[in-house]
Amino acid sequence: MNVKLRVWRQASTKVEGCFEEYEARDLNPNMSFLEMLDVVNEDLTLSGKEPIAFEHDCREGICGSCSLMIDGEPHGPENKVASCQTYMRSFQDGDVITVEPFRSRAFPVLRDLIIDRSSFDRIIQRGGFISVSTGSAPDANAILVSKDSADTAMDAAACIGCGACVAACKNSSAMLFVSAKAAHLNSLPQGRTEKMSVS
Ligand code: FES
Repeated sequence: MNVKLRVWRQASTKVEGCFEEYEARDLNPNMSFLEMLDVVNEDLTLSGKEPIAFEHDCREGICGSCSLMIDGEPHGPENKVASCQTYMRSFQDGDVITVEPFRSRAFPVLRDLIIDRSSFDRIIQRGGFISVSTGSAPDANAILVSKDSADTAMDAAACIGCGACVAACKNSSAMLFVSAKAAHLNSLPQGRTEKMSVS
């Protein structure tokens, strides 16, 4: 399949960006969106042009670093998956796909599609962690955790901190991220000893 891309290019935080168009040809529909960008970048590199900067790490939907706004939706058309788990089979041959960084004043664009999400680090530093030592695994197991508490904590811990809640919100609110970080350790007995401490 072939698609046309409109990609946001921006050399740094200090300069204005703009959309540039690229052709992505001979794609396998089972490629991930990031693998499609790899193909485009290979072509750009071979023709002596600057490749598109985008962030990624695990490519397994775990780390939350691959934050892309695809056709105006955080992570694209698939439901509840990160950009690295979005596949080209979700698009039609000949589609024009717009790719941008997540837009928020809290997430300045560092380069092209890469944003600075250190505002999330500052939120975690304010209280999204505990410092109690849970000891080795047998010690941790000695503290009983109810099924309900474990399920609540696990649900909150499923937040991978990708920033999609900020990108999707008109107010750029990070309330889903904040509530997940505040709840995941607070729901467990190990975290309750520091429940009231916020730096
Ligand atoms: S690269 Fe880790 S979630 Fe996409």
